[in-house]
Order: sequence, then C-alpha cells, then structure tokens
Amino acid sequence: MFELLPTLPADPILGLTVECRADTNLNKVDLGVGVFKDESGNTPVLAAVKEAERQYFDTEQSKAYLPAGGTPRFIGLVNDLVFGSGHPALQQQRVVTIQGTGGCGSLRVAAELIKRANSSARIWISDPSWPNHSALLGSSGLGFCQYPYYDQNSNSIPFEQMLAALAEAEAGDLVLIHACCHNPSGADLSEAQWQAVTELAKKNGFIPFIDMAYQGFGQSLEADAYGIRYMAEQLPELVVANSFSKNFGLYRERVGSVSIVVKDPNLVATVNGQMMNIARTIYSMPPAHGAALVETVLADTQLRQKWQEELGQMRDRIKSLRSALVQELKNLGCSRDFSFIEAQQGMFSFLGLSKSQVEQLKTAYSIYMVDSSRISICGLNSKNMNYVARAIVDVVDK
Ligand code: LMR
Repeated sequence: MFELLPTLPADPILGLTVECRADTNLNKVDLGVGVFKDESGNTPVLAAVKEAERQYFDTEQSKAYLPAGGTPRFIGLVNDLVFGSGHPALQQQRVVTIQGTGGCGSLRVAAELIKRANSSARIWISDPSWPNHSALLGSSGLGFCQYPYYDQNSNSIPFEQMLAALAEAEAGDLVLIHACCHNPSGADLSEAQWQAVTELAKKNGFIPFIDMAYQGFGQSLEADAYGIRYMAEQLPELVVANSFSKNFGLYRERVGSVSIVVKDPNLVATVNGQMMNIARTIYSMPPAHGAALVETVLADTQLRQKWQEELGQMRDRIKSLRSALVQELKNLGCSRDFSFIEAQQGMFSFLGLSKSQVEQLKTAYSIYMVDSSRISICGLNSKNMNYVARAIVDVVDK
C-alpha cells in the first residue's frame, strides 16, 4: 500500500537546516529557519525557564493527564498576557482559551473549529505569508483567498490595495493577520492600520484570525499585542493563535494557545466543548512540560521579571543585527539600498533577490535562505556579518 505514496520535496524551511548541516564549508551560514541564536550560534534555554524547570522538577506531583484544554491557571495567565489583564472581553467573559501544541497546533485547532462552525468560510491569507500557513490550515478543508501585503519595490505594505482586497471578504470569512513581526516580510501594521482593518471588519462582518508567534520580539509584549487587544475590544468575534516557541525559547516543547472571542458569554461552554473535542480527536490532551514552565514563569514576579529582561535582550540583539547588516552593506558600497531592513521587525526580512541569486548564495558561499530570499536575521553574528554582506554585494552588483 505505501508504495503508492508519492515522494514529497523537502519542507521549504526545515529542509534548509538539513541541507546546511550536511554542508562541509566551514564558512556556511544558516539564514533559514526562524530560531533565535546568540553570538556563538547557540539557541540557549532562557535562565528564567531553567529556573522554572528546577522548581517544576522539585514540586511536580504527578504525570497524570492534563485537562484537554490545559490547566485553569495556565489559561488565566495566558489570557492576561495575550489580551492584557482586565481587558473588557475578559471581564465580559467572552474569551475561550485552551492550551495548544505550539503555534502550529493552535492554528490547526482554530481551523478545525472554524470548519465546524461554517464549512464554507474562506481564510484570507496575506501575500506573502509563512509558507506553512496554507498547508496547515488547508488540511482542515477550508478554502483560501489572498490579499496583497508586501510590495517588494517599496519594501512596505501596500495598505490601500490590502484594504481594497479585504473589502471583498464576506461575512463569516476569516482574515488571517500576523499580530507582529510578519513572517516572512518583517513589515507590520501601524496602529492606524489595525484600526482601519477593524472598521472594515465591523462594516463587512469578516472575522480577524490573528496569529501571534512573536509577542515581545517586535517592540514590547504590550505593543506587539495591540491589534489583538484593539480588535477584541471593538469586534464581536475574534480568533487568536499564540505561540510560546520564540518568546520563551520553548520551540521543541510545543506550547501555545488558541483563544476564541465570542459574541455572548452563553456561547463559551459550547465553543470550549468543541475545542476540547477537536483536541481529543487529534492528540487527546496537550503535553504538560512546556506549559508548566510558562505557567511557573508568568506566576512568579521575579521569574517573570527575569524572563522579560531576557526577552528584551533577544529583541535588542535582533535589532542590532538588523542595523549591523544594513551598515555593513553600506560600508561595502552596495548599489542597492537595504535600509528598510532596519525599519522592519522580528526575525525575518526579504533581501529582494531572485531565485537564481538565492541559489548562487547557496552554491558559491554556502549561505542558506528560503527561495523567496527571506532571511532569518538571527543566523547572523559578528563573525559572519562581513562574509554574508560581501556575498550579497557580489550577487547584487556583479
Ligand atoms: C519559520 O518560519 O522559520 C519558523 O516559524 C519555523 C517554522 O516552523 O517554519
């Protein structure tokens, strides 16, 4: 039977890690997958997380199953982090949150719920978006539409065109928006732009579906959640998928959350029951470890403070790498202006290179990035910065 299966190409992002690992060039640089790295190229366990792990190890009482939706304490802390403590939607008890298995698992549960609620709902996805979005959400059987989000000529969001496209989104459609640190472009909506999309949603009845994979990597925990908090205040319904992979560095622990803002508190039990049922039919109940660490850190004033400092350091490192790359390209006299990279935020930006230039960087320099020329800024460090910048100048100017 299994001989009938076609062989699939490698994942466009994860495949790069495998390729780069196998490369014997000592100068190789992996700008592929979005994983934070320090100056030595390591992805450290945060000190706040390590301390939480010690506490958890000493106090863990049981390994019996978690509730399918996660522990109530985890849910309460996550709601406060995502929506802001005392948010009107929380006070009105219109928010249903369950623990998710990373950002991907959370997105998938949300998609299954949407499919159950309205099987003809379409999901509007930004063009470009994270390559896995359509595969991950599409597996639930939902249909897709696209809206323009990034103009490679001006390196900015063509907002008028975006709004014009979204004017076609119908009541009951979902519009997927990245809360912050847009993957792959690094270009984020301003507060005024969030407000304009909210007005359109109010007028036309589409439901924003916000993916927040990088809270705290853009400007701050609060500013990065602006869109979610504003929309949850203004609109009757909202879907939010959240990940702790990046901001807690818990990539392999698979911890996230999915929140549904409903019109009426009377709907909470039904929506919660549906999500628990979806979880039960895919993975039964979530893993405990990563969520326990998030819970421990968020509940403890000192650990939380420590975590916020470490998160700030990660954010600052990414910002300084952005500036350093722009400066290095300038110093080398590159004919192209890359200063937009400094204005963007989060882990990713496009270099604006063609596929063949991306291929050239790989074959001639062992520099790996997604075909679209998306780079993961965190793959840069002071040792490889000049090498990468020289290679970019070579392919752009020669
Ligand atoms: C990325 O886009 O590189 C990250 O979100 C990791 C992933 O799962 O693709």
